[in-house]
Amino acid sequence: MPVIIEPFRIKAVEPIRFTTHEEREAALRKAGYNVFLLPARDVLIDLLTDSGTGAMSAAQWGALMQGDESYAGSRSFERFEAVVRDLTGFRHIIPTHQGRAAERILFHSILQPGDVVLNNIHFDTTRANIEYEGAEARDVVIPEGRLPAFIHPFKGNMHLEALEALLAGEEGARVRLVMITITNNSGGGQPVSMENIRAVRKICDKYGKPFFLDACRFAENAWFIRQREKGYDHRTPKSIAQEIFGLADGCIFSAKKDGLANIGGFLALNEDRVAEKCRNLLILTEGFPTYGGLAGYDLEAIATGLQEVVDEDYLRYRIRSIEYLAEKFKDIDIPIVQPPGGHAVYIDAAALLPHIPALEFPGIAVVNSFYLTGGIRSCEIGSVMFGLTPEGTERAAGMELVRLAIPRRLYTQSHIDYVAEIAAIVKEISRSLRGYRIVSAPKQLRHFTAKFEPLVGVETRT
Ligand SMILES: Cc1ncc(COP(=O)(O)O)c(C=O)c1O
Repeated sequence: MPVIIEPFRIKAVEPIRFTTHEEREAALRKAGYNVFLLPARDVLIDLLTDSGTGAMSAAQWGALMQGDESYAGSRSFERFEAVVRDLTGFRHIIPTHQGRAAERILFHSILQPGDVVLNNIHFDTTRANIEYEGAEARDVVIPEGRLPAFIHPFKGNMHLEALEALLAGEEGARVRLVMITITNNSGGGQPVSMENIRAVRKICDKYGKPFFLDACRFAENAWFIRQREKGYDHRTPKSIAQEIFGLADGCIFSAKKDGLANIGGFLALNEDRVAEKCRNLLILTEGFPTYGGLAGYDLEAIATGLQEVVDEDYLRYRIRSIEYLAEKFKDIDIPIVQPPGGHAVYIDAAALLPHIPALEFPGIAVVNSFYLTGGIRSCEIGSVMFGLTPEGTERAAGMELVRLAIPRRLYTQSHIDYVAEIAAIVKEISRSLRGYRIVSAPKQLRHFTAKFEPLVGVETRT
């Protein structure tokens, strides 16, 4: 098999800026040791997120010029709606400015305080939006999904027995919604099998519960199903995606991932009454239902992106490029979530830095070391992101991960080789890395703006 190359050539380039170790040290100190607060110009390779950071295609840039900016009933909305309906089959298609707006509108329309929402693992904004309504977000992923080194083809699967036990038990009546996140971002970008999605649908029918997808990375999930699940190897990614959506009552979607767009999202669902409530709320805070906080040109870019993302050559390259970085990490003995997920490689920071306890944030130590050593920005997904309970106490998250998310179609193989070289240095100095303490943080989604202090000076090799 020849090497799987990038299935595109480059038409426009954007320079990236090299910095010295001293410059990075000063920038990180100024940012309160939180890479979210760094100016992007001080970052060389930005793997903070795959959300909205990808490169659009020539066809998408061309589509932008077709944007119809009419306030109501634009041609661009008609195209967007037709593409989303063809893919998902849902009756009501409601554009939003990004995924979390779809979350807020859905949850505010259906949740009451005390309700419970079940999901494989809630993404951080999803959890926060549920808790904001006074409801509870509970994770029901299979136990293997919490074991970073354990190899399983579908580690994002729902734990069916636990789900059924919850619904049949005393708390069953409190469950207002069952969700599945595809792929499971907070659990390592791990896919969910069609068999599992089908089984969840069945359980939801048995207990009369609505079933929604958090579908940001539906195309990557569809590719994993094609690669790993019996009976799907000859199916197109689009037909697999259509089958997935066909099993749900609705979805929330951030177009910043598998929409291949820089902004946007939607909420799609079948139930008329809930859709009406959602549209009314949309008008209040996002905009008229045919633009939902987006420009007409955004709707065009998303429509084209949704058509491009199910291309087989694209998905083969996309999933392979993540696997490529994971193989490099394995070669240098960096512990990662196995098998690698669809959009990122997740380092097991607890295993890499066993000398740093969870509440001294080993993930932050790894993130900051990648930045100081090589100007690479990554993201902690551990006790900073998930450690603060609604009651205000601290608890260790289930896993201490560091995510190196790969933006879509943005970096070449040599950029990725560089990341692996920096990782080798981080590994070499790992024993010398120290933990952090939080100096200040908001009560919700604290990882975005918290400030830290190193417990002892961080050492790196220049
Ligand atoms: C699984 C998942 N759900 C929801 C969201 C929220 O989407 P957005 O960032 O567009 O608000 C994200 C974003 O990263 C995500 O990964």
